[in-house]
Amino acid sequence: MKKLRLGVLASGGGTNLQSLIDSCADGRLSAEIAIVISNNPGAGALERAAKAGIETCCINHRDFADRTAFDHSVVQQLRDAETDLVVLAGFMRIISATFIEAYPQRIINIHPALLPAFPGLHVQQQAIDYGARFSGCTVHFVDAGVDTGPIIMQAVVPVHEEDTAEDLAARILVEEHKIYPRAIQLFAENRLHIEGRRVRILPAPPPCNGAMHNPGLEG
Ligand code: GRF
Repeated sequence: MKKLRLGVLASGGGTNLQSLIDSCADGRLSAEIAIVISNNPGAGALERAAKAGIETCCINHRDFADRTAFDHSVVQQLRDAETDLVVLAGFMRIISATFIEAYPQRIINIHPALLPAFPGLHVQQQAIDYGARFSGCTVHFVDAGVDTGPIIMQAVVPVHEEDTAEDLAARILVEEHKIYPRAIQLFAENRLHIEGRRVRILPAPPPCNGAMHNPGLEG
Protein backbone atom coordinates (compact mmCIF):
# COMPACT_ATOMS: atom_id res chain seq x y z
CA MET A 1 0.00 0.00 0.00
CA LYS A 2 1.20 3.53 -0.78
CA LYS A 3 2.49 5.27 2.32
CA LEU A 4 0.87 8.51 3.45
CA ARG A 5 3.08 11.41 2.39
CA LEU A 6 3.54 14.10 5.03
CA GLY A 7 4.40 17.73 4.36
CA VAL A 8 5.75 19.11 7.64
CA LEU A 9 5.79 22.86 8.30
CA ALA A 10 8.02 24.05 11.13
CA SER A 11 9.50 27.36 12.24
CA GLY A 12 11.65 26.38 15.20
CA GLY A 13 13.83 23.74 16.79
CA GLY A 14 11.87 20.85 15.38
CA THR A 15 11.66 18.38 18.26
CA ASN A 16 8.18 17.35 17.06
CA LEU A 17 9.56 16.88 13.56
CA GLN A 18 12.28 14.70 15.09
CA SER A 19 9.69 12.54 16.86
CA LEU A 20 7.96 12.05 13.49
CA ILE A 21 11.25 11.18 11.77
CA ASP A 22 12.02 8.66 14.53
CA SER A 23 8.50 7.19 14.45
CA CYS A 24 8.66 6.70 10.68
CA ALA A 25 12.06 5.03 11.09
CA ASP A 26 11.01 2.61 13.81
CA GLY A 27 7.67 1.70 12.23
CA ARG A 28 5.32 3.26 14.80
CA LEU A 29 4.21 5.59 12.03
CA SER A 30 3.64 4.14 8.60
CA ALA A 31 4.08 7.33 6.65
CA GLU A 32 6.93 9.11 4.95
CA ILE A 33 7.97 12.72 5.29
CA ALA A 34 7.93 14.03 1.73
CA ILE A 35 9.10 17.55 2.50
CA VAL A 36 9.88 19.87 5.41
CA ILE A 37 9.12 23.53 4.80
CA SER A 38 10.11 26.41 7.05
CA ASN A 39 9.51 30.14 6.91
CA ASN A 40 12.63 30.61 9.04
CA PRO A 41 16.04 30.13 7.41
CA GLY A 42 17.58 29.43 10.83
CA ALA A 43 15.09 26.75 11.88
CA GLY A 44 16.63 23.74 13.59
CA ALA A 45 13.88 21.73 11.91
CA LEU A 46 15.58 22.27 8.51
CA GLU A 47 18.84 20.86 9.88
CA ARG A 48 17.11 17.84 11.38
CA ALA A 49 15.34 17.13 8.09
CA ALA A 50 18.53 17.48 6.03
CA LYS A 51 20.33 15.13 8.41
CA ALA A 52 17.58 12.56 7.88
CA GLY A 53 17.86 12.93 4.10
CA ILE A 54 14.46 14.61 3.75
CA GLU A 55 13.79 17.26 1.10
CA THR A 56 13.76 20.74 2.65
CA CYS A 57 12.54 24.07 1.47
CA CYS A 58 12.78 27.50 3.09
CA ILE A 59 10.12 30.01 2.10
CA ASN A 60 10.78 33.21 3.98
CA HIS A 61 7.47 35.01 4.64
CA ARG A 62 9.34 38.33 4.59
CA ASP A 63 9.87 37.90 0.85
CA PHE A 64 6.12 38.08 0.16
CA ALA A 65 3.76 41.01 -0.09
CA ASP A 66 1.00 39.32 1.92
CA ARG A 67 -0.13 36.12 3.60
CA THR A 68 -2.00 34.80 0.57
CA ALA A 69 1.04 35.11 -1.69
CA PHE A 70 3.19 33.33 0.91
CA ASP A 71 0.63 30.57 1.39
CA HIS A 72 0.30 30.14 -2.35
CA SER A 73 4.01 29.43 -2.59
CA VAL A 74 3.87 26.97 0.34
CA VAL A 75 0.92 25.12 -1.20
CA GLN A 76 2.79 24.89 -4.50
CA GLN A 77 5.76 23.23 -2.78
CA LEU A 78 3.45 20.85 -0.90
CA ARG A 79 1.76 19.87 -4.16
CA ASP A 80 5.05 19.38 -5.96
CA ALA A 81 6.07 17.01 -3.15
CA GLU A 82 2.76 15.12 -3.55
CA THR A 83 1.75 15.77 0.03
CA ASP A 84 -1.30 13.89 1.37
CA LEU A 85 -1.37 15.40 4.86
CA VAL A 86 -0.02 18.77 6.02
CA VAL A 87 1.49 18.58 9.51
CA LEU A 88 2.08 21.83 11.37
CA ALA A 89 4.86 21.28 13.89
CA GLY A 90 5.62 24.57 15.56
CA PHE A 91 4.76 26.58 12.44
CA MET A 92 4.46 30.15 13.66
CA ARG A 93 2.34 31.55 10.82
CA ILE A 94 -1.44 31.76 10.67
CA ILE A 95 -2.57 30.04 7.51
CA SER A 96 -5.06 31.60 5.13
CA ALA A 97 -8.39 30.34 3.80
CA THR A 98 -6.73 29.65 0.44
CA PHE A 99 -4.35 27.22 2.13
CA ILE A 100 -7.14 25.49 4.06
CA GLU A 101 -9.21 25.12 0.89
CA ALA A 102 -6.24 23.50 -0.86
CA TYR A 103 -6.08 20.76 1.80
CA PRO A 104 -9.60 20.41 3.25
CA GLN A 105 -9.55 18.31 6.46
CA ARG A 106 -5.96 17.46 5.62
CA ILE A 107 -4.07 19.90 7.83
CA ILE A 108 -3.32 19.08 11.44
CA ASN A 109 -1.62 20.98 14.23
CA ILE A 110 -0.24 20.36 17.69
CA HIS A 111 -0.85 22.96 20.37
CA PRO A 112 0.84 23.01 23.80
CA ALA A 113 -2.31 23.44 25.91
CA LEU A 114 -5.57 21.65 26.57
CA LEU A 115 -7.83 23.32 24.02
CA PRO A 116 -10.19 25.07 24.13
CA ALA A 117 -8.27 26.54 27.09
CA PHE A 118 -5.39 28.80 26.13
CA PRO A 119 -5.34 29.11 22.35
CA GLY A 120 -2.74 31.40 20.77
CA LEU A 121 0.77 32.16 21.97
CA HIS A 122 2.75 31.90 25.24
CA VAL A 123 0.24 29.39 26.49
CA GLN A 124 2.42 27.68 29.09
CA GLN A 125 2.83 31.01 30.91
CA GLN A 126 -0.88 31.66 30.51
CA ALA A 127 -1.75 28.31 32.13
CA ILE A 128 0.58 29.08 35.06
CA ASP A 129 -0.70 32.64 35.50
CA TYR A 130 -4.28 31.43 35.42
CA GLY A 131 -3.55 28.94 38.20
CA ALA A 132 -4.51 25.86 36.18
CA ARG A 133 -3.59 22.61 37.96
CA PHE A 134 -3.32 20.70 34.70
CA SER A 135 -2.29 21.56 31.20
CA GLY A 136 -1.17 19.44 28.28
CA CYS A 137 -1.28 19.28 24.53
CA THR A 138 -3.83 18.88 21.78
CA VAL A 139 -3.64 17.49 18.24
CA HIS A 140 -6.43 18.94 16.11
CA PHE A 141 -7.53 19.46 12.55
CA VAL A 142 -6.98 23.01 11.35
CA ASP A 143 -9.96 25.13 10.44
CA ALA A 144 -10.30 28.85 9.71
CA GLY A 145 -9.94 29.88 13.38
CA VAL A 146 -6.85 30.00 15.59
CA ASP A 147 -6.53 26.64 17.39
CA THR A 148 -10.25 25.95 17.03
CA GLY A 149 -10.48 22.87 14.80
CA PRO A 150 -11.88 19.43 15.75
CA ILE A 151 -9.77 17.69 18.41
CA ILE A 152 -8.12 14.35 17.59
CA MET A 153 -6.11 13.59 20.72
CA GLN A 154 -4.99 15.20 23.96
CA ALA A 155 -2.50 14.47 26.75
CA VAL A 156 -2.63 15.93 30.24
CA VAL A 157 0.26 16.92 32.52
CA PRO A 158 0.19 18.50 35.98
CA VAL A 159 1.25 22.08 36.56
CA HIS A 160 3.58 22.17 39.55
CA GLU A 161 3.68 24.94 42.13
CA GLU A 162 7.16 26.20 41.24
CA ASP A 163 6.94 25.67 37.47
CA THR A 164 8.41 28.23 35.10
CA ALA A 165 6.98 28.38 31.58
CA GLU A 166 10.09 26.49 30.41
CA ASP A 167 9.54 23.69 32.97
CA LEU A 168 5.94 23.27 31.90
CA ALA A 169 6.81 23.46 28.19
CA ALA A 170 9.39 20.69 28.62
CA ARG A 171 6.89 18.46 30.47
CA ILE A 172 4.29 19.05 27.75
CA LEU A 173 6.78 18.42 24.92
CA VAL A 174 7.47 14.90 26.21
CA GLU A 175 3.78 14.14 25.65
CA GLU A 176 3.63 16.00 22.31
CA HIS A 177 6.27 13.61 21.02
CA LYS A 178 4.01 10.68 21.95
CA ILE A 179 0.63 11.87 20.74
CA TYR A 180 1.55 13.51 17.42
CA PRO A 181 2.92 10.34 15.79
CA ARG A 182 -0.01 8.38 17.21
CA ALA A 183 -2.63 10.82 15.89
CA ILE A 184 -1.00 10.80 12.45
CA GLN A 185 -0.95 7.01 12.47
CA LEU A 186 -4.71 7.05 13.11
CA PHE A 187 -5.09 9.36 10.13
CA ALA A 188 -2.87 7.08 8.02
CA GLU A 189 -5.12 4.15 8.94
CA ASN A 190 -8.10 6.19 7.78
CA ARG A 191 -9.68 5.92 11.23
CA LEU A 192 -10.49 9.60 11.82
CA HIS A 193 -13.99 10.73 10.87
CA ILE A 194 -14.99 14.33 11.42
CA GLU A 195 -18.58 14.74 12.56
CA GLY A 196 -19.18 18.44 13.17
CA ARG A 197 -16.87 19.44 16.00
CA ARG A 198 -16.17 15.86 17.00
CA VAL A 199 -13.66 13.43 15.60
CA ARG A 200 -14.87 9.83 15.77
CA ILE A 201 -12.16 7.16 15.79
CA LEU A 202 -13.19 3.90 14.10
CA PRO A 203 -12.72 1.24 15.17
CA ALA A 204 -12.81 2.83 18.62
CA PRO A 205 -9.65 2.47 20.72
CA PRO A 206 -10.01 1.25 24.34
CA PRO A 207 -11.53 3.99 26.49
CA CYS A 208 -9.25 6.06 28.72
CA ASN A 209 -10.24 5.31 32.31
CA GLY A 210 -9.33 6.98 35.55
CA ALA A 211 -9.18 10.51 36.84
CA MET A 212 -6.17 12.51 38.01
CA HIS A 213 -6.14 14.90 40.91
CA ASN A 214 -3.69 17.72 41.44
CA PRO A 215 -2.94 18.09 44.28
CA GLY A 216 -3.64 14.45 45.20
CA LEU A 217 -6.58 13.63 47.47
CA GLU A 218 -4.36 12.87 50.43
CA GLY A 219 -1.48 14.45 52.27
C1 GRF B 1 5.53 22.88 20.37
O1 GRF B 1 5.33 23.15 21.73
C2 GRF B 1 4.23 22.88 19.63
O2 GRF B 1 3.16 22.42 20.39
C3 GRF B 1 4.03 24.33 19.31
O3 GRF B 1 5.33 24.80 19.00
C4 GRF B 1 6.30 24.00 19.68
C5 GRF B 1 7.25 23.48 18.64
O4 GRF B 1 8.34 22.82 19.21
N1 GRF B 1 3.05 24.50 18.28
P1 GRF B 1 9.35 22.03 18.29
O5 GRF B 1 9.88 22.99 17.25
O6 GRF B 1 8.63 20.87 17.68
O7 GRF B 1 10.44 21.58 19.23
